[in-house]
Amino acid sequence: MCGIVGYIGHREAYPIVLKGLKRLEYRGYDSAGIALYDGEEIKLSKTKGKVADLETRLENEIATKGTVGIGHTRWATHGVPNDVNSHPHYSNSGNLVIIHNGIIENYEPLRQELTNRGYTFTSETDTEVLVNLIEDVKTKEKVKLGKAVQIALNQTVGAYAIAVFDRNKPDEIVVARLGSPLAIGVGENEYFVASDASPFIEYTNNAIYLEDGEMAIIRRKKGVKVRKIKDDKQVDPYVQELKMNLEQIEKGGYDHFMLKEIYEQPNAISDTYRGRMRVSDGIIKMAGIDDHIEKFTNARRILIIACGTSWHAGLVGEYIFEDLARIPVEVEYASEFRYRNPVIYQDDVVIAISQSGETADTMAAIKLAKEKGAFVFGICNVVGSSISRETHAGAYTHAGPEIGVASTKAFTTQITVLTLIALQLAKKKGVISTPDFHAHLQELERIPEKVAKALESNEHIKEVADIYKEASNCLYLGRGFNFPVALEGALKLKEISYIHAEGYPAAEMKHGPIALIDEQMPVIVIATKKGHYDKVVSNIQEIKSRKGKIIGIVTEGDVTVKGLADHVIEIPETMESMTPLLTTIPLQLLSYHIAVMLNKNVDQPRNLAKSVTVE
Ligand code: F6R
Repeated sequence: MCGIVGYIGHREAYPIVLKGLKRLEYRGYDSAGIALYDGEEIKLSKTKGKVADLETRLENEIATKGTVGIGHTRWATHGVPNDVNSHPHYSNSGNLVIIHNGIIENYEPLRQELTNRGYTFTSETDTEVLVNLIEDVKTKEKVKLGKAVQIALNQTVGAYAIAVFDRNKPDEIVVARLGSPLAIGVGENEYFVASDASPFIEYTNNAIYLEDGEMAIIRRKKGVKVRKIKDDKQVDPYVQELKMNLEQIEKGGYDHFMLKEIYEQPNAISDTYRGRMRVSDGIIKMAGIDDHIEKFTNARRILIIACGTSWHAGLVGEYIFEDLARIPVEVEYASEFRYRNPVIYQDDVVIAISQSGETADTMAAIKLAKEKGAFVFGICNVVGSSISRETHAGAYTHAGPEIGVASTKAFTTQITVLTLIALQLAKKKGVISTPDFHAHLQELERIPEKVAKALESNEHIKEVADIYKEASNCLYLGRGFNFPVALEGALKLKEISYIHAEGYPAAEMKHGPIALIDEQMPVIVIATKKGHYDKVVSNIQEIKSRKGKIIGIVTEGDVTVKGLADHVIEIPETMESMTPLLTTIPLQLLSYHIAVMLNKNVDQPRNLAKSVTVE
């Protein structure tokens, strides 16, 4: 998974491509490169490291002229991150230059074949094989670049979003996609190419999202021609108007995207339910559900498939669906589900959850479920993403762009969508009383205000973070609806501060993890005044008698846990099923502050990328 950017038009390409790469660094950031055509030749510069390293390198070169250019920010798949393996890659003649996001799975035999015909390779990448394959086809078949790309791609197996240009025909860029996202920004006599719309949103709101299996030839003067890669059939491109603005993408005064996104949650949650519920009339309207209501109400069970934080949201969903709608639910890691020959019935409903809508394992699990005849519903954040298009129906979370690699607002908005669906199904199945249904809607409407209140504990949480920032391990405990929140809290700490953390159901502690507890061990216990409060209080006593340090996440006004814990962080009172929307907030902030205090790269933690488009 990598970020790709391209430009062809009347402006200097370099600043557009460079800025675009910075916006796409969430997709990978172990090396970066740019190729520009300056009217005479291609100037290419690439380096291991971040886009900022590339910028420093380019400042020392004068090679930043030209109105056509492509750039790449990499997350290594084939070959270690180094200068040579970085993109763009030249073909052997130096005429073609390419950037690629994805994996060409059959690159080994292709490389062998090309080597036998005299091609040489400087890198270990599958991408260099692809650009030479294109060149080989172009020379052998004596065809234009577009045709050569099409023929070459039909010989590959794998996934790609590519952009390629030819120094002998610098008035066109050829792009193609299969399994990796690719958007084309359409301006006035200028065109942009990118993995998402953020690199071009300040220049144009008009975008074409290529479908899987499509390619486009983009000509400076003649515009965009879209074709199917397989059979060369021409496609009428759909130019869509984007509502996203630049401010949504940039940091808006916060030190990090993650913090900005944590603070965006009150608005993000209300954006998620806006237009979908009318509290005064007691109505939920969700086209994706209403149009297929019988599939859901007749479902034998619901299978939720997802990865990482989205999987944690799915686990919360299991508690919500079973409690409110009385439908049995199983939650599966997409990566396990896809390979374990799962039993899928035709009357199962599968819900796939994915912030990016591009996660390869989730995508593969969806395809498997569809093959077995299940109805698949998607919950995605990124509009037009691959998963949102692969599913039979779906609901967007409308959380706005999530740039910080650690997922925050995606989690709470996914839970909001799951709550809306569960309530709607409960109503349609007649398993919730009208007053109870109304009470839930009223409470959901109040959640953004309560999240804002929970955010007011930020300074106190910072003090707690300062005390525990040097910890080597942390334990997160919760029960019922808050067990998945404990998992999510632990994941947030691990991924951005690199402190080892584990989430556990509080009662399971005595079956093993209790052995870890001593005076060095901070234990974060979610102990809201709902559900199994008394049981959690007993668990806290067990930790205390073993000298563990207790940080309690409690309901406002709690006295019992306050009397036992070393620190408490309060959240407003709410219904039990909605507590995860509030208990998550202090855990996000705690991880954030610890990571900042440890000087970690909060928005781009090591070894991670925002969108995991490889398995
Ligand atoms: C953790 C995180 C990841 C993602 C996971 C799934 O903070 O961001 O665990 O949740 O990679 O990604 P999506 O939701 O895009 O499918």
